[in-house]
Amino acid sequence: MGKSIVVYFSISGITKKIAEDAARIAGCPVCEIKTAVPYPADYDAVVAEARKEVATNARPKLKEPLPDISDVERIILGFPNWCSTCPMPVLTFLESADLSGKTVLPFITHGGGGRGHVDVELKKACKGADLRECADGNPFNSDIAKLEEWLKS
Ligand SMILES: Cc1cc2nc3c(=O)[nH]c(=O)nc-3n(C[C@H](O)[C@H](O)[C@H](O)COP(=O)(O)O)c2cc1C
Repeated sequence: MGKSIVVYFSISGITKKIAEDAARIAGCPVCEIKTAVPYPADYDAVVAEARKEVATNARPKLKEPLPDISDVERIILGFPNWCSTCPMPVLTFLESADLSGKTVLPFITHGGGGRGHVDVELKKACKGADLRECADGNPFNSDIAKLEEWLKS
């Protein structure tokens, strides 16, 4: 098996916890996508910001250094559902990276909206990659066996 990395974006910690579990199971590094300007702490303010970013198809600047994926074969990519898609910083990251020949295994956590239309957005951003269908990450939060099963499959 080639090298893997877990890359995640998380505001309130749910995706972060699963990402860290995934890295432990896969025995690989874990790296967070952070924005240059942090999101506000207030929930309503984050939602307002996220809606604006989706409406304008924004690509928020990321905080350096970006996760180094140069020599990995497999990217396990975790993020929350924001406004029925992935947070725009995840697209900034994907579009800034050379993903050719790499496998991208996404999972999404959500508040009931499931995957939304994230698969369509990821497909546009993951040029040259072997992009797998986004997994529903919510069950992974309470059941680590389900996370393990997904990673093995
Ligand atoms: C800005 C914002 C937008 C959200 N939009 C949705 C949504 O459209 N559908 C949904 O099911 N959950 C939505 N949620 C809930 C998050 O997806 C959910 O709480 C997620 O597990 C949080 O992950 P985190 O703790 O890693 O940040 C939204 C949360 C935020 C902060």
